[in-house]
Amino acid sequence: MIKKGNSTVPILEARNISKVYGNGVYANKNICFSLNEGEIHALVGENGAGKSTLMKILFGMEKPSTGEILIKGNPVVFSSPQDAMKYEVGMVHQHFKLVDPLSITENVVLGYEPMKNGLIDRKTAEEKVKEITKIFDIREDLSTPVGKLPVGTKQKVEIVKALYRGAKILILDEPTAVLTPQETVELFEKLIQLKNEGLTVVFISHKLREVKQITDRISVIRRGELIETFFTKDVTEQEISAKMVGTTYTSALDKGESKLTEVVLDVKNITSKGLGDISVVNNMSFTVRGGQIIGIAGVEGNGQNELIEMITGLRPIDGGSVKINGMDTAGKSIIQLRNAGLSYIPSDRIDRGLAISMTIEDNMIATKLDQKSLYTNGLLSRSKIRSMSEKLVKEYLVRCNSVEAEVGMLSGGNMQKVVVAREFTQGATLIIAEQPTRGIDVGAAKFIYEELIKLRNQGCAVLLVSADLEELYKLSDHILVMYNGEISAYIKNPSEVSETELGTYMLGVKKQSAEEIKGAYYEKE
Ligand SMILES: Nc1ncnc2c1ncn2[C@@H]1O[C@H](COP(=O)(O)OP(=O)(O)O)[C@@H](O)[C@H]1O
Ligand SMILES: [Mg+2]
Repeated sequence: MIKKGNSTVPILEARNISKVYGNGVYANKNICFSLNEGEIHALVGENGAGKSTLMKILFGMEKPSTGEILIKGNPVVFSSPQDAMKYEVGMVHQHFKLVDPLSITENVVLGYEPMKNGLIDRKTAEEKVKEITKIFDIREDLSTPVGKLPVGTKQKVEIVKALYRGAKILILDEPTAVLTPQETVELFEKLIQLKNEGLTVVFISHKLREVKQITDRISVIRRGELIETFFTKDVTEQEISAKMVGTTYTSALDKGESKLTEVVLDVKNITSKGLGDISVVNNMSFTVRGGQIIGIAGVEGNGQNELIEMITGLRPIDGGSVKINGMDTAGKSIIQLRNAGLSYIPSDRIDRGLAISMTIEDNMIATKLDQKSLYTNGLLSRSKIRSMSEKLVKEYLVRCNSVEAEVGMLSGGNMQKVVVAREFTQGATLIIAEQPTRGIDVGAAKFIYEELIKLRNQGCAVLLVSADLEELYKLSDHILVMYNGEISAYIKNPSEVSETELGTYMLGVKKQSAEEIKGAYYEKE
């Protein structure tokens, strides 16, 4: 802390910060957060808790709806990151903001170039950058275009850029998410070195082990609220994870009866190699039977995306196998997988779910071109396409003026409804639903829940991947928890396991025995 008269004040303080986005989402609620000079302070919380929003506010990228920021006890107003930088605040974003064709040096000095006689003083720039990069062991030549650098080095360049601009307070938004364990160790060493030189660091992470290792204090954010700030030495991983997920018990919706049938999705010993020697998915085995909803819980980035990509044919399988209705998917095209019974609602609906510049109706029928009901005398019939898509728009409550409108003009929630309408009406026997209700309104979410349950009860196998625990509890018959590319728990009866306990598996605090995890794989006797 900084001495001011007889008392000490935080180097930075957020007072009663609230942030409501245009879509009505309360991302931050009355947050009070303070930083002491020279500390490493972790900000932890589930996906969507509001961490990035708070940091963007402290970095002048977002304006708070209410509340104030104080630097060394004095109120400040940041209208842009440039303002924040004047007060020595720097930030490294989750998604880097580097310019690929420019060199390391050019990226670091960009917008803050040293000048001499009205010209950019390259020599001084190079010397200054060289000096700062020293502690980071950047092995590449400083004239290398950053586009050519591995991700770990890009991150170092981002940190160097912040330091070059004079940051004394450095905000790192999930810096280790993109790093290998070795690179993480290296980053931590540097951060501790910088801390000893007086730097203050805010460090966002989901990985509680890391957080325990490197920080002085930990603040927990849940659903937009700052729940508590701890001294790291006074708190266990278990306690932090409980604060992160809370203790609410969500009960399952009344799903009604479903008749379990045979295994529709059979995933056996599946493995995906990442870069380097660590697997991003490691030897996972589980089944989904007809009439069953299996939920996958996990903090984002623990292999869920890669798992789904392998099942849906978007990523090669490096080991093990996937069978859909008995068909081994190896070497099969996406069309063959669809013919075998697969329907897929991707989390990235803009890139993967829709052809954004095409009309709503063309998107609706894109996967239905082999349906006889769309043809007259062997030719695709516009009027039949029209009436089918109008029927779907109506049933799925897509808000649009006409099915001839470009799908890209719809709101996010309505785009999602288009994908869902198409995928739910494919006659599929396996539905993979990835974050199916993310970013959509409550009414539409409820509708999607009802449809998923209906499909289950008709005998469809459903694999639901969600970052929303409440959603998983509501829908899943059983829950698999993924941590570090593996199944860390198989929750046979979700109603008997609290969110707090689930959280300990999600965060790697606890792991079930191999015997318990085996329950996820059903083998016919
Ligand atoms: N630019 C934005 N517009 C609308 N909603 C947003 C925006 N950015 C974030 N949100 C929403 O605000 C909430 C908090 O998001 P965020 O701060 O990114 O969380 P975290 O970093 O903890 O994962 C989420 O519900 C998210 O969907
Ligand atoms: Mg974030």
